[in-house]
Amino acid sequence: MKRTARTRLGLKFITTTGAIALAVGLAGCASGSTAPAGDGGSGEAADDLTVGVAMPTETSERWINDGQAVKSQLEEAGYGVDLQYANDDIPTQQQQIEQMVTKGADILIIASIDGTALASQLEAAAAKGIPVIAYDRLINGTENVDFYVTFDNYEVGVQQATSLLQGLGYMDAEGKDTGLKDKKIIELFAGSPDDNNTAFFFNGAMDTLKPFLEDGRLTVGSGQTSMDQVATLRWDGATAQKRMEDLLTSTYGGGSKPLHGVLAPYDGISRGIITALQNAGYGENIEAGLPIVSGQDAEIASVKLINDGVQFATIFKDTRKLATEAVKAAEAYAEGGEPEANDTETYDNGVKVVPSYLLESDIVVADNIQSLLIDSEYWTAEEVAAGVAE
Ligand code: BGC
Repeated sequence: MKRTARTRLGLKFITTTGAIALAVGLAGCASGSTAPAGDGGSGEAADDLTVGVAMPTETSERWINDGQAVKSQLEEAGYGVDLQYANDDIPTQQQQIEQMVTKGADILIIASIDGTALASQLEAAAAKGIPVIAYDRLINGTENVDFYVTFDNYEVGVQQATSLLQGLGYMDAEGKDTGLKDKKIIELFAGSPDDNNTAFFFNGAMDTLKPFLEDGRLTVGSGQTSMDQVATLRWDGATAQKRMEDLLTSTYGGGSKPLHGVLAPYDGISRGIITALQNAGYGENIEAGLPIVSGQDAEIASVKLINDGVQFATIFKDTRKLATEAVKAAEAYAEGGEPEANDTETYDNGVKVVPSYLLESDIVVADNIQSLLIDSEYWTAEEVAAGVAE
């Protein structure tokens, strides 16, 4: 018998409720008729199964791409898909997940807004035996998250700082210290404090910058280095622009003092920072004196800026590959199995270590836009030139 997601519900029920449930669950599995979700049974095809896909926001391009990629790949595999975006609003996302559970989703794929705000929704999902796959962002404080697909988030942070150091001349293309002795001034930005990825990115970046801060080649001009000083709620570009403007006023004489680089954790934040820097007169592009700014996500507007020599770098995380891993995990559950993890140590959500599948990311600079983004058909040359997705 090919076990389906619903017969697996029986199995999941078992693992959390002990031996008596084990017997009941297995009986249910054998008969194919008594799984907790109700109408499940043997022989369900993928197209009898619905996957609820909860995405955080459509204001950032990457989540639109993620949503589309997950939806189309699931549909290709024959699943029904209930895809919802939550406008970066926590109650909206909670409600959307509640509704998915009520309407009978068989599997959930969730990119959370606040990684700690979904415990009660996931308890409801667990009560119905619905497997939950955390997508890109870990869901914290609950045992009811079964699997996690993401990138190596610490390494993303390492790459962000590496790109900054390369742009400043301290590291070569291989990431080796060039021995440059100049002293330079930087500022630091981090992502949203409620996103579990934020600390991974920031820690990876800070561990990489540390030797240069310690030997005095780099200084954080404002002295603001702690997470509560540098975080950017909801990854909002306007919030980052405002903080950069405030820093320019408080520390850089409104733009008259040298600032050489800014660690930025996401392209939307990078563009906010760049706008503040340009408005303060640092130059239209890097050649004209604009500081080196890092990024993340290879958003098309930022890829154009990189091509034009305005933003220095971004980190490419191929959302198509992440979608493929999420779909593979969903299929494993649909077939009554478990997805294959390649990391079972790193992602402790406070209640348990969630088995994870981590993908790799790449630093994008002007020179490799063609090989990384255009040749792989992530963006076309026309899109890069225009800075707009078709
Ligand atoms: C993602 C990043 C993204 C950020 C803002 C993070 O959780 O991992 O890729 O830049 O959210 O949307």
